[in-house]
Amino acid sequence: MRHEHVISAKQFTRADIEAVLDRAADFAANQQDVADAHEGALLATAFFEPSTRTKMSFEAAIKRLGGDVIDMGPVEFSSVSKGETLADTLRVIEGYADAIVLRHPMEGSATMATEYVDVPLLNAGDGAGQHPTQTLLDLFTIREEVGLDDLTIGIMGDLKYGRTVHSLAQALTNFDTAQHFISPESLRLPRSVRYDLHDQGAKVREHEDFEAILSELDVLYVTRIQRERFPDEDEYKAVSGQYQLDKEMILEHNEDLTVLHPLPRVDEVAPGIDSLPGAKYFEQAHNGVPVRMALLDMLL
Ligand code: CP
Repeated sequence: MRHEHVISAKQFTRADIEAVLDRAADFAANQQDVADAHEGALLATAFFEPSTRTKMSFEAAIKRLGGDVIDMGPVEFSSVSKGETLADTLRVIEGYADAIVLRHPMEGSATMATEYVDVPLLNAGDGAGQHPTQTLLDLFTIREEVGLDDLTIGIMGDLKYGRTVHSLAQALTNFDTAQHFISPESLRLPRSVRYDLHDQGAKVREHEDFEAILSELDVLYVTRIQRERFPDEDEYKAVSGQYQLDKEMILEHNEDLTVLHPLPRVDEVAPGIDSLPGAKYFEQAHNGVPVRMALLDMLL
């Protein structure tokens, strides 16, 4: 992994994933220790879209490794607002830092960015494309809770625009996993992702009804309907609120269900679920720190 860009979960082998997760487990066991292995290292963050978890956990990760972070700041206070291109912005930033974390609304922007920078570039979300570092913390959490082989997972919600879904589905093809995709017809997985899964020989089924499948699952990975990606507000309204998981459903169909969500949530996971032992989405978010520590440790 050293000196590589991290752009898509499609680039991860099983060995890559296991190496990152094993290293992350070491960091997780010693969370309060600040390592000095990367003293002086600088991580640049360039977020062209809002973020809480990804941005702050990358900041925490580099600081816990002994390094520091420089942040482009809000887009409106950067020279992007004067018309500077993404390519020029990144060519400048790479001279200031040892690695760059980029979030951008345009799908394919991270791939494009690798044409312009030599320092490791980490895709922190490119539109409706990919979110590979989220996938590593998702896999870490699944491995901790139920294991990654002999896994039956449901992935529910906005499968069309949900970049965390695209990355997770592709990464899971490295394991012996049955994947059940649950969404309205209009928000099915993009054809390109379905083709990739088919090429990898993934065990995949698609559903519109989720209560019928709950009892078969080890993990249900719920996602928010990505309102900001819909070209038309009426299309969003037609599907919003269709998939709402509540505590009673879990208690009726599958008390052992592990519930994950990349967060933020809106109305798809009722707060009543938070107190159930299988509600692991806040631990999942917290796992972003050791996982991103492991990734940075291996890349820098
Ligand atoms: N899961 C995730 O990407 O959250 P943020 O948008 O807050 O970074």
